[in-house]
Amino acid sequence: MQTKIIQAGNTQPQPFEGQNIVIIGGSSGIGLATARQVKDAGANLFLVSRNPQRLREAAEAIGGAVQIVSDIAAPQPAMFAEIERIDHLLITAGTVHLKSLKDQSEADLLQVISERLIGPLLAIKAALPLLHSASSITMTSGQFASRPAAIGAVVAAAVAAVESTVRALAIELSPMRVNAVSPGWVDTPLLDGLMGESKRQVLEQTASTLPSRSIGRPDDIAQAILFLMANRFVTGEVLHVDGGGRWV
Ligand SMILES: NC(=O)c1ccc[n+]([C@@H]2O[C@H](COP(=O)([O-])OP(=O)(O)OC[C@H]3O[C@@H](n4cnc5c(N)ncnc54)[C@H](OP(=O)(O)O)[C@@H]3O)[C@@H](O)[C@H]2O)c1
Repeated sequence: MQTKIIQAGNTQPQPFEGQNIVIIGGSSGIGLATARQVKDAGANLFLVSRNPQRLREAAEAIGGAVQIVSDIAAPQPAMFAEIERIDHLLITAGTVHLKSLKDQSEADLLQVISERLIGPLLAIKAALPLLHSASSITMTSGQFASRPAAIGAVVAAAVAAVESTVRALAIELSPMRVNAVSPGWVDTPLLDGLMGESKRQVLEQTASTLPSRSIGRPDDIAQAILFLMANRFVTGEVLHVDGGGRWV
């Protein structure tokens, strides 16, 4: 008589088990939501941002992560010195610079380009010796690349540049994969600074104009980022997660 052995419990390996994932911008919003999801899926986490206190709080909230203090606008070449291998690199770091051109100095314009484009490229360059052929890089664009706001031309230009950058790097760094996520309006601490006390009201009004009839949650974008990290056949892609905001 044959004996059938049935194992109890979930024996499926976790999708990111043992993988080293670096999130630049991981202490808040979309980066933090992604950190939670990949941590739950078994990853070893390395969080990078400017404010050490916020980094500590984020690491505690998700149950542990190596913390690296660095500014994406001026990343140090040795920022990843403590890491031996990077399986996935995600860059969500960024702030809002929605100002009219007439109110922006040359320094303001250069700051946006440094934060959104040159800094991320330097961070990717610093990570290259640690990345490998099966690694992925995910950058962050934004809805303004396709549907500009009434003000903020340099932001629109910078995020559009991110989208062409991932297409170019997908070829240059092949077979490593390079993609971008492009969020629409997402309820994160970033919008507190932008909208202040009227945030709730503005978001409700915005939601009513979107095909999705709702504003994005950080977890919605994080889910898309996990897809970009995990799918071995997706590269040079920009994944729009915007509730249809580009079309209205
Ligand atoms: N929320 C939206 O509606 C929306 C829409 C489209 C695109 N995006 C883009 O998505 C990305 C994430 O946004 P979010 O809403 O998640 O923002 P968030 O909640 O403010 O989080 C931003 C994260 O980036 C870090 N960061 C900001 N500037 C940095 C710098 N110069 N160097 C290193 N770290 C920096 C912040 O930590 P520290 O401040 O401590 O450094 C924080 O961890 C941003 O690039 C944003 O422009 C957001």
